[in-house]
Amino acid sequence: MNELVLPNDTNTFGNLMGGRLLYWMDICAAMAAQKHCSHVVVTASVDNVSFKHPIKLGDAVMIEARVTRGFNTSVEVRLDVWAQDLPSGTKIKSNEAYYTFVAIDRDGNTIIVPELVPESKHEQLLYEGALRRRQLRLILGGKMQPDDATELKALFMESQKGA
Ligand SMILES: CC(C)(COP(=O)(O)OP(=O)(O)OC[C@H]1O[C@@H](n2cnc3c(N)ncnc32)[C@H](O)[C@@H]1OP(=O)(O)O)[C@@H](O)C(=O)NCCC(=O)NCCS
Repeated sequence: MNELVLPNDTNTFGNLMGGRLLYWMDICAAMAAQKHCSHVVVTASVDNVSFKHPIKLGDAVMIEARVTRGFNTSVEVRLDVWAQDLPSGTKIKSNEAYYTFVAIDRDGNTIIVPELVPESKHEQLLYEGALRRRQLRLILGGKMQPDDATELKALFMESQKGA
């Protein structure tokens, strides 16, 4: 998805407001999730997002969204964001983030989402990491007990062995 930063999108310093960027990211990610699920989705969570570089008035913002994994009724979407100064062509990576969406039917009931089959090595890495990220966000959201987060625990045990 491409957007042009206009005056109404900026703060008094002429920088893109964080909330506007999160809104664009939400729309872009929701479209990817809906294409995968062939159903309406709602945003269940947004993982931590850091704003690494200010994006200036007049810059173009490029947002790329890809579904990394389908779980039961939810999907994880990864977002990569770049800002480009159009006259010079200079392009910098601005953000990365993960959003989670839940598919719902017309009555608002959650529904099963299609599986995602990773093909490339990169897709495989994102797919595997999705399970750990899911456990972490469910713990933080009060939806999972830390003791049940087997993938996360295994990761910490591995890193302790390596230390
Ligand atoms: C998201 C929502 C559908 C979850 O409903 P729920 O009854 O609490 O959820 P359940 O416990 O049945 O879980 C449903 C799915 O949501 C996922 N989920 C729930 N809370 C989550 C969270 N904080 N982070 C990530 N995923 C979450 C569950 O893991 C589950 O996915 P799975 O079936 O793939 O395992 C519900 O909370 C909702 O409608 N929220 C408002 C959504 C909205 O309006 N979004 C716009 C934001 S302003």
